[in-house]
Amino acid sequence: MITGLAHVSIVVPDLDAAARELDAKYGLKIGAIKVNTEQGVRMAYVELANAKIELMEPAGANSPVAKFLEKNPRGGIHHFSLGVDSVDAVTADMKNRGVRVLGDGTQKNVHGERIAFVHPADFLGALVELEDKREAKK
Ligand code: CO
Repeated sequence: MITGLAHVSIVVPDLDAAARELDAKYGLKIGAIKVNTEQGVRMAYVELANAKIELMEPAGANSPVAKFLEKNPRGGIHHFSLGVDSVDAVTADMKNRGVRVLGDGTQKNVHGERIAFVHPADFLGALVELEDKREAKK
């Protein structure tokens, strides 16, 4: 079951500059900067009451996020993320309905939550991440 909006993710060319801009213009502060070696990104989150804003900067030229920046040099919204109660159950159900799920279900985000992605062609053109919120509580 989809349980809520987890975050909206924005790719930025410079994470430190992005953090300064969000603070100066909106008073939004990022948390600790983390590196996700699996996804090749340096990232940080702005915590809002009901969801987060994820900022991602490519860490290396091979990062999938680097390709996004080539097409969108100033950055932009990359995906949004929905919390689910079980990534296994939700992706199995989606596959039964013909939805293309990306990843084998073993990927984890920087919080240790298991994640998967829904192909944009199967979600109105938007890349959707699924985060297993059950694991996060452990
Ligand atoms: Co994300």
